[in-house]
Amino acid sequence: MTTADPAKVAVLISGRGSNMQALAAAQGDAYRLVLVASDRPEAAGLGWARDHGVPTFALSPRGIGKAAYEAEIDRALRDAGAEWIALAGYMRLLSDAFVARWRGRIINIHPSLLPRYKGLDTHARAIAAGDTVAGCSVHVVTEELDAGAVLGQAEVPIHPDDTPETLAARVLVEEHRLYPAVLKEFVRA
Ligand code: GRF
Repeated sequence: MTTADPAKVAVLISGRGSNMQALAAAQGDAYRLVLVASDRPEAAGLGWARDHGVPTFALSPRGIGKAAYEAEIDRALRDAGAEWIALAGYMRLLSDAFVARWRGRIINIHPSLLPRYKGLDTHARAIAAGDTVAGCSVHVVTEELDAGAVLGQAEVPIHPDDTPETLAARVLVEEHRLYPAVLKEFVRA
């Protein structure tokens, strides 16, 4: 048993934030969400976080450039006391400098069984390849896209009549189970 304080986790989102909501629902002794930040001020997940008492920060990089944008995000993370960063549908590539500053402290959820289907359109690619199994992976974020150490995976079947949308919905259910479970283990290690 440990009596350590909960780990302080910030979540970066760009959209609806359903994985962020799953992480929020599972917070407790292992970790607490101290910030939800977004590169899209209109991201639906920000409203949900505000409504549920999680501090938020929003800034678009448009017009200020990537370096200034990341410096502000970094400042907001540190002001919030974040120790760990969970990317959850964050659609922007982090710079090498940002990754280096938070080395080993950023994780991401990706909707494929890595190392298969890094990048976008994972479900359409799995169906087109004739795969019978799909899934999701939580991995450490490094400078290389979707290439850091895999911390956990969950599988789902691909049905013959699946579309990318029906498969995405089946995988998403598993994402919401997998991400909090892996985060709890990761912040404890
Ligand atoms: C999820 O499928 C996640 O794996 C991917 O982007 C999607 C984000 O969905 N990286 P949400 O914003 O968490 O609902």
